[in-house]
Amino acid sequence: MSRSAFAIGLSIALSGLVSTALYAQEPASAGTPAETARLEYEQVMTLTPDLENGRRVYLTCAVCHRPEGWGAPDGTYPQIAGQLRTVIIKQLADIRARNRDNPLMYPFSVPRILGGPQNVADVAAYVAQLPMTPENGVGPGMDLPLGKEVYVEHCTKCHGENGEGNEDEHIPAIAGQHYLYLMRQFDAIRMGRRKNSDPKMVKQIDSFTPLQQAAVLDYTSRLRPPESKLAETGWVNPDFPAYVRDPMGVPPMPPMPAGLMEPPAYPSVPPAR
Ligand code: HEC
Ligand code: HEC
Repeated sequence: MSRSAFAIGLSIALSGLVSTALYAQEPASAGTPAETARLEYEQVMTLTPDLENGRRVYLTCAVCHRPEGWGAPDGTYPQIAGQLRTVIIKQLADIRARNRDNPLMYPFSVPRILGGPQNVADVAAYVAQLPMTPENGVGPGMDLPLGKEVYVEHCTKCHGENGEGNEDEHIPAIAGQHYLYLMRQFDAIRMGRRKNSDPKMVKQIDSFTPLQQAAVLDYTSRLRPPESKLAETGWVNPDFPAYVRDPMGVPPMPPMPAGLMEPPAYPSVPPAR
């Protein structure tokens, strides 16, 4: 073989390798959004997370979820710190497969920006180990005995007695989540707007009155995560020393990734009830 033919052969072989490597970074895709998300979830679960890379990836998320992962007490952004790793992976896979509508976050979740399954594994592990806020948004505190009664009867079985969720079944931890975020998700689940909701949960909560809903979510927002998962009041994430916090405490709109979509509307704050 001549030298140049060898060089061409080698470069073809190498480009094949490179594209195989890139392809391996693409999430698997299949028919429906739910199926695509399920395949990616399974793919991510086989990977070993790298926390240091997770921290780097998290910089994108920090703009909305804050460097601490605590979101906003007005519920516009959920607390994701301390959420179960499997839940974070499932929600990321669902959101980017459009199995859960999240127009604001969607552009930041696509492979071109967030990266492939390995980055999903890494950022999920990073977020899961962040300590949670000791001061999440809670409800008005008026019907807590009713809230407890409803919780014990209708929620404990899946979300656990203390709202700790279930890692193996990727059932979200809901203790210490912002009350107004819980209200928005609960509404979305009841109305069928959240595509990835659990049909058994939808059935369970179908007949709730507004009073029962508000009471049970108020109670949920006041369930305390274990001491070991909570940060000290005023904790600042030392992983992002250069992060500039705006004085109003309102997360700024991050720059939109070019060419993906028009900037979506800011999420509206749900009415307090
Ligand atoms: C542009 C703002 C924005 C960015 C950037 C963003 N998110 Fe989100 N995220 C949101 C909003 C808003 C919601 C809640 C949407 C809703 O109400 O359904 C959310 C929801 C989530 C949820 C589901 C929480 C739950 O309890 O159901 C997870 C997990 C999550 N984000 C993780 C991330 C990660 C990891 C990143 C970085 C790769 C990220 N987000 C980047 C705005 C953002
Ligand atoms: C049959 C099991 C089941 C029951 C009962 C159930 N849930 Fe759920 N719930 C789930 C699952 C599973 C999800 C996550 C679905 C998904 O996105 O994958 C969920 C999601 C949620 C969410 C959204 C969490 C988030 O981080 O976005 C809230 C809030 C919630 N449940 C509250 C409740 C409350 C309060 C009750 C009791 C009134 C309840 N659930 C009863 C299984 C259940």
